[in-house]
Amino acid sequence: MPKRIDLPSPHLYRLHYVSRVDPGIQMAAVEAILARAREFNKLSDLTGQLLFTGTHFSHILEGSLDCLRLLMSSIQRDSRHHDLRVVAEGYVHARSFEGSPIRYVQDPGLRDLVEELWWAQRIDQERTAQLVQHLEHQLLPRPLWVRKT
Ligand SMILES: Cc1cc2nc3c(=O)[nH]c(=O)nc-3n(C[C@H](O)[C@H](O)[C@H](O)COP(=O)(O)O)c2cc1C
Repeated sequence: MPKRIDLPSPHLYRLHYVSRVDPGIQMAAVEAILARAREFNKLSDLTGQLLFTGTHFSHILEGSLDCLRLLMSSIQRDSRHHDLRVVAEGYVHARSFEGSPIRYVQDPGLRDLVEELWWAQRIDQERTAQLVQHLEHQLLPRPLWVRKT
């Protein structure tokens, strides 16, 4: 019996970007982002996680590619952060943040890791992949990219 090849769902897309924020950013700005995201992402069936380190955002989004594209065009123009870089994206089998329109994590201890990831994305694909995995394993409720058996 041939082994079943388990391809990622063509309907579920996952995108991870990192960006920088100005040091003076107020927590009220982060709270406003979260309030908007809770509402919009729920309506759009998007799930994910936003990490705030004080100097960077790291945001993982899951959902349909169309919804993600639409949202990313707004996020890219948003003046509350800058220098946005997509570090990983692609179709996946299952959500890692099922039931969470935007899970929020605040951790200044991850600053250096996210900054290194931000730089690596520009120059070294292999290092970027390692750092993405490392960061995500520290933060995820359940591991990403797990193949179904
Ligand atoms: C780091 C960051 C993450 C964001 N995440 C989301 C999100 O997940 N969902 C959302 O609706 N808006 C999010 N926003 C807000 C959007 O950038 C934007 O303000 C909102 O979609 C309204 O856009 P519009 O004025 O183009 O309609 C985020 C903003 C930032 C800076």
